[in-house]
Amino acid sequence: MATRKIVKLGDEVLRKTCKKVEKFDLRLALLLKDMADTMHDADGVGLAAPQVGILRRIVVIDVGDENGVIELINPEIVKVSTETQTGREGCLSLPERQGIVTRPKVVTVRAQDRHGNHFEITGEDLLARAFCHELDHLDGKLYIDCMDRELTPEEIEGHVPEDGPVQEDEAT
Ligand code: NI
Repeated sequence: MATRKIVKLGDEVLRKTCKKVEKFDLRLALLLKDMADTMHDADGVGLAAPQVGILRRIVVIDVGDENGVIELINPEIVKVSTETQTGREGCLSLPERQGIVTRPKVVTVRAQDRHGNHFEITGEDLLARAFCHELDHLDGKLYIDCMDRELTPEEIEGHVPEDGPVQEDEAT
């Protein structure tokens, strides 16, 4: 297992626009493995390449469902539901912080796999949230840019319930 250092808020790499992946080679496969290892090691449900200092359009997601690790290369959101979800969101680059963020309830992403083949995948609830959060990273956007409000440390620890539906703590 090879983990990489996770870039934290304040590093300007998190604010850059990532470039498309052009080469679907061994180097990409190794990066995907390292990203999945890094995400799992940090107990996250998603990780975008800029979070390990790589300015390429690459995302890994694992929300613990039957999909396992989802690898998205050059992903784009192609469809979102009008129905929304409002809940907690965190980010491995902003440790010990959480916000309440409203996202579409269902999101369809078109992307390429590690071999360059195009595919579409639809996610609901947490997976839809993870798609939005991780794809935002590729354009230098963070959840704090679009959150309804930030949780207090007491709310994060669960001593005080926040307004709105409670979701499990998930860091992406
Ligand atoms: Ni994040």
